[in-house]
Amino acid sequence: MTIATILNNRASARAFTNKKIPTTELEAIFALAQQSVSNCNVQPWQTMVVSGETRERLKAALMKTLMAGQAPNPDFDWTPKYQDEHRERQFGSANALYGALGIERGDKKARMESMARNWTFFDAPHVAFFCMQKYLGIMGAVDMGVYAQTVSLILQEAGIASCMQGALGQFPDPVREVLKLPDELGILFGMSFGYADAAAPVNAARTSRAELAEAVKFYN
Ligand SMILES: Cc1cc2nc3c(=O)[nH]c(=O)nc-3n(C[C@H](O)[C@H](O)[C@H](O)COP(=O)(O)O)c2cc1C
Repeated sequence: MTIATILNNRASARAFTNKKIPTTELEAIFALAQQSVSNCNVQPWQTMVVSGETRERLKAALMKTLMAGQAPNPDFDWTPKYQDEHRERQFGSANALYGALGIERGDKKARMESMARNWTFFDAPHVAFFCMQKYLGIMGAVDMGVYAQTVSLILQEAGIASCMQGALGQFPDPVREVLKLPDELGILFGMSFGYADAAAPVNAARTSRAELAEAVKFYN
C-alpha cells in the first residue's frame, strides 16, 4: 500500500467493532512508530496504550468526572479560539460529523451526547494517550504531532482505524490516577483505535481540504 493510498482512503473513525488487536501486533505497531522523527532526536513521546480491564476502569473514571460537571483542566493550553478560515473549517468538520449523524444544528443535547462519546473512546477496544514531560513546550508538541501521525498511518496500513482526540487531554486527573502517571508527565491528547464499524453512520463523515494554493506557496 502506498502512502498516497493510505492518505486518500483514511478518515477519522468514531465507531468501532469490539474486535481486539493482539498484544504482539500492538507492540509491532508502536515499535515501528519509534522510527518517527523528532527535534534533536529527543523522542519526547511517552505513550500509554490502554486496553482490557484498565480501559474499563479509565472509561468509568472519565465518565464519573464528566457527569460531575468538572471543568476541563488540560495539562497544556492548546485550544485556541479559532479565527477566520480556521473557524470556518472547524464548523466544516462539525457539520460533516453531525450531518453524518443526522443531528440538527440546534439540537444541543444530541451534540453533547455525541461529544461525550469521546470519553468512552467511541467504543474502540484500544486507546492511546500521548504524553510528554510538561517542561518541553511547543517543540515537544511538534514532535508529538509528527509521532501521532506516524502511529495513525501505521495503523491505517494495517487496516486499523483511529481518531485523534484532543478531548482526551481535557480531563487529565482521572487518566493520571488510573494509569498512575507522575505529575511532571503531561497528557497532550489521545487516540482511540480499532476496527471501524463500517455500518455506523458516523463513519461516513468526510471532511474536505483547502486548495493547494491556500496552503502552500512555491518560490523559485
Ligand atoms: C490533534 C487532534 C485532535 C483532535 N481531537 C478530536 C476530538 O477530540 N474529537 C474528535 O471527534 N475528533 C478529533 N480530531 C479529529 C479531527 O476532527 C479530524 O482529523 C479532522 O476533522 C479531519 O477529518 P478526518 O480525520 O476524517 O480526515 C482531532 C484531530 C487532531 C489531529
